[in-house]
Amino acid sequence: MPISKAVIPAAGLGTRFLPATKAMPKEMLPVVDKPAIQYVVEEAVNAGLHDVLMVTGRNKNALENHFDRATELEAVLTRKGDQRRLEEVVRSTNLATMHYVRQRDPLGLGHAVLRAHMHVGQEPFAVLLGDDLIDERDVLLERMIAVHDSHAANVVALMEVEPSQTHLYGIATVEATEESDVVRVTGLVEKPRPEDAPSNLAVIGRYVLQPEVFSVLEDTPAGSGGEIQLTDALNSMAGSGLGGGVAGVVFTGRRYDTGDRLDYLKAIVQVAATRDDLGPEMMAWLKDFVATA
Ligand code: UTP
Repeated sequence: MPISKAVIPAAGLGTRFLPATKAMPKEMLPVVDKPAIQYVVEEAVNAGLHDVLMVTGRNKNALENHFDRATELEAVLTRKGDQRRLEEVVRSTNLATMHYVRQRDPLGLGHAVLRAHMHVGQEPFAVLLGDDLIDERDVLLERMIAVHDSHAANVVALMEVEPSQTHLYGIATVEATEESDVVRVTGLVEKPRPEDAPSNLAVIGRYVLQPEVFSVLEDTPAGSGGEIQLTDALNSMAGSGLGGGVAGVVFTGRRYDTGDRLDYLKAIVQVAATRDDLGPEMMAWLKDFVATA
């Protein structure tokens, strides 16, 4: 069955960004001039997924408003003849068919994904986390969908990390396959210490999941941090082979982590550097700044 639905969990508390996230979801933090969440919705749409379900929590209004019409703003920009800005305002409105479901308590990523069951039904679907931005010049989600189709399995995105970073990610135990960028995942462990990590392949925020994941999540007890972890459900499926088990696509492209403050600042610099309108001027200033700081 072809994949048409994307689920974007955006109900976390964003505690690492307080106080910025006191009244606003962290997914609305801008990366240059677009909120992080818009890059993620654009990525889903570019991969052919036009049906987007966002799992929201408290302070959801900004997220919904961003993908809704802003008639007053549109009227002002039309009156001023500011076509460029008008296009930018309308762009996020027309991107995808947006749906919203509320996760009343942020009980973990697995719990957030479970909220999507009613909307997704018995179809495979993609999950994209707003913390991870994948450079649009690098292909990841399309490749994961292709691997899902050929392997008939759940698919996670994996990236090599430094041993000192394993405690921040789900880490995979893997076996090679005949395809150089694809591995079979035989186990997953959430946030291990470097000495306990089975590899340096970390799960990053893109998944293509089989609908069987919902029944597994129903039975997954709270794990690391007292939260229901998607990693634990996928570890169980890797062991049992349910839903075809778990395959991994090893990604070597450009990923911008906006989940913590320092990485977020780096993400903004990296994205701005690639922009024609800002990059040259900003890089010249940055070189100057570093030389004199
Ligand atoms: P994170 O753990 O990075 O988000 O979850 P967080 O809990 O908001 O972050 P901190 O640690 O408090 O700063 C990864 C993704 O899963 C979503 C988050 O919104 C984020 O996009 N999430 C997490 C939910 O939707 N619900 C949850 O219960 C937990």
